[in-house]
Formats: sequence, structure tokens, C-alpha cells
Amino acid sequence: MRHAITLRVNDEVRTLDVEPSDVLLEVLRGRVGLTSPKAGCERGDCGACTVLLDHRTVRSCLILAVEVDGHEIVTVEGLGIDGLTALQERLIELSAFQCGYCAPGVILSAAELLAETSDPTREEVQEAIAGNLCRCTGYAPIVDAVLAATRAPAGAPTPEV
Ligand code: FES
Ligand code: FES
Repeated sequence: MRHAITLRVNDEVRTLDVEPSDVLLEVLRGRVGLTSPKAGCERGDCGACTVLLDHRTVRSCLILAVEVDGHEIVTVEGLGIDGLTALQERLIELSAFQCGYCAPGVILSAAELLAETSDPTREEVQEAIAGNLCRCTGYAPIVDAVLAATRAPAGAPTPEV
């Protein structure tokens, strides 16, 4: 039996009919049309499907859509709707990604960290993104870019993450 659920996705309220077995990742990609959450391992290991659920990172491949009825989801498409965030700009400037498959999960994991602490250590950044497997970069340029996003020019406001 299908269920009607209501989600706030990237600040837009969406009402969807879903099967009890529909996984959030499939619903976001196939029904809402958001392709930044990626299907990688689909068993919770790689982080490619990461989204923010009520401001906390979760693996959308492990969550049923009916479980998040009434909750808020943010994907990379919803970050910096008015332009790229400082974090995204630094990641681009430092060519932090190659294929980019891991990028949405890494970005949301880093954004979650930077929302909690404006001055993380290198170790804290490494820990925050550790659940996102990257086959291309060795992680160093990603960590450099996240740290660079915390360093606003003198007199500038704290960068939006
Ligand atoms: S696809 Fe969800 S953790 Fe890999
Ligand atoms: S840039 Fe290719 S998997 Fe991370």
C-alpha cells in the first residue's frame, strides 16, 4: 500500500506517494529529480548517497522514505542556492576533486562540520569526511580546501559554508 509523505527538500515542500520499501536515495533521485546523491555501494559503506537530514549527515541508501515523513532534507543542490558557498569555491579553486563522484557526500560532510565549528583542525576535517570514499584524490586537496574555506580575508565576514 502506498503512503503519502511530505518532505521539505532544499527548502521546498514536496508531497510524494511512496511504497513502504522505497529507499530515500531512490526517491530523491527518481522522484524529486535530485542527482547529487549517488548510488555507490548501496549498503552504507561509501558515503556517495549522503544527504543532510534535519542538518545531520545520513546515508540515504539506508533510510526508507516513509521514515523521513515530515523531515527536512538538504542535498548539494540546496547549498548556496544564491551562489556557491565559500567551501564550494575553495574546493573548485584547489581542484580538490577529479571524477567528482564522492563530491556531494564530502561537501555535505564538511558543511556539517563547518556549521558546528568555524575553526576545525586538520584532524577534525579528516574525521568529518572519513566516511566518504574517494578513489581519485588521496584526500589531501579536499582537506586543504575545507581548511581554506575557514580562512576569510581580514575584515571579511565569516564565510558561509
Ligand atoms: S551508496 Fe549509500 S553508503 Fe554507499
Ligand atoms: S574525486 Fe573521484 S571519487 Fe573522489
